[in-house]
Amino acid sequence: MEKRKDHWENVYETKDDQEVSWYQEIPVTSLDLINSLSLYREDSIIDIGRGNSNLVSELYKKGFTNLLVLDISSKSLERTKSKLGRKSTEIQLIVSDILEFQPSQKYSLWHDRAIFHFLINEMDISQYVNIVSKAIKKEGYLIIATFSTSGRKKCSGLEITQYSKEKLQSLFHESFELVQSLEDVHKTSFETEQNFIYTIFKRK
Ligand SMILES: C[S@@+](CC[C@H](N)C(=O)[O-])C[C@H]1O[C@@H](n2cnc3c(N)ncnc32)[C@H](O)[C@@H]1O
Repeated sequence: MEKRKDHWENVYETKDDQEVSWYQEIPVTSLDLINSLSLYREDSIIDIGRGNSNLVSELYKKGFTNLLVLDISSKSLERTKSKLGRKSTEIQLIVSDILEFQPSQKYSLWHDRAIFHFLINEMDISQYVNIVSKAIKKEGYLIIATFSTSGRKKCSGLEITQYSKEKLQSLFHESFELVQSLEDVHKTSFETEQNFIYTIFKRK
């Protein structure tokens, strides 16, 4: 089986932004949800599995100063660097498999759109829950967006786990309380649709 990292390096080596189904010019739903949290501009925000998302550039434009991105693919982060230009020196770029990530600080907000759902075995899922529970400050936030139960069963040719609000809540309830959840349809550049569920959790 192709290794996780090899798969994603190959994606970012061979495909432009518009050629991947998850791409959004402006990640409106994530930005609206982040806006609803009334964070301070110096609060630390990490975007997990940033890939080619424009989320951090949009947050930078809004004046956020403590931004980090993480991805398993070094190619995707090279792309991030060239896209951000001079701004990239002010944003911390971390190449890591999320399951091996050892955060050196606690974050005010952890944002994950379309990476958690690639974890398909129980051990990996519980490891992720464990890592995120330790990595977020008390009263900090977790935004997690996955394919919903009415969505697709694969993304980028890989199996995914579909989630409902209840299923996410049952995984994260020990350390987090649910603040909000909403369903959202992402229209891809191939004129297909991806059904997402977005949830906001607050660290207890
Ligand atoms: C479907 S893309 C979503 C990209 C971005 N979050 C967005 O919303 O546009 C999934 C991203 O997660 C990254 N990824 C997948 N598995 C990962 C893992 N185990 N650890 C870290 N990053 C991972 C991939 O390299 C890819 O950039």
